[in-house]
Amino acid sequence: MKFTLPVIAVNFKTYLESVGEKGLKIAKAAQEVSTDTGICIIVIPQQPDIRLIASQVDVPVFAQHIDPFKAGSHTGYILPEAIADAGATGTLINHSEHRLILADIDDAIRRAKEAKLKTIVCSNNPEVSASICALSPDYCAYEPPELIGTGISVSTAQPEVVLKAVELMQKVNSDVIPLCGAGISTGDDVTAAIKLKTRGVLLASGVVKAKEPKAVLQEMAEAAQKTL
Ligand code: G3P
Repeated sequence: MKFTLPVIAVNFKTYLESVGEKGLKIAKAAQEVSTDTGICIIVIPQQPDIRLIASQVDVPVFAQHIDPFKAGSHTGYILPEAIADAGATGTLINHSEHRLILADIDDAIRRAKEAKLKTIVCSNNPEVSASICALSPDYCAYEPPELIGTGISVSTAQPEVVLKAVELMQKVNSDVIPLCGAGISTGDDVTAAIKLKTRGVLLASGVVKAKEPKAVLQEMAEAAQKTL
């Protein structure tokens, strides 16, 4: 499993269109598109679907969240080792729809590393992006909350903010891979994101709620391929 760049990460969120077999269908489409274009597509299903999906596709499968606990006496939390055992190779942390305080983000990144999980940590503005990069995640995804789920792409609506976020991230820690997300729905949105010096995108509704998720993924992956 190769984590090449640029990358397209698809968060299935809690959309009904991505539950169970429907999520598996999207993940299989991601695998076909990835094989066809050579672009790395990460799928991020709901937690109960990780094992089903990870056992049937070769693209990287990430969790939507982990809790920064050690194994033991806790109830209802998500243990990084359990995610890894289910077949995930990484996790989102601090999505705008599942925010953590900075100290817990730090713990979650450390715990993910202990469980050998890669980390995409989300941020809501350029300054928070910089703070997160000081904690050395693998990827940091800048996502302005007000554009999430709107279909208005961050890469065309806020180019200067994306540039600023990437610049601050790189200044703090150039090993962290900068991504952006929110409203990314077309190949042009992906091209614009990469032109703004990100190394890929994090998206959800543009694919998960599309009539033909595979066609949208194909368009996005071909756009990413053209930037190489
Ligand atoms: O995790 C991706 C996300 O928050 C962006 O959502 O629906 O705007 O692509 P969406």
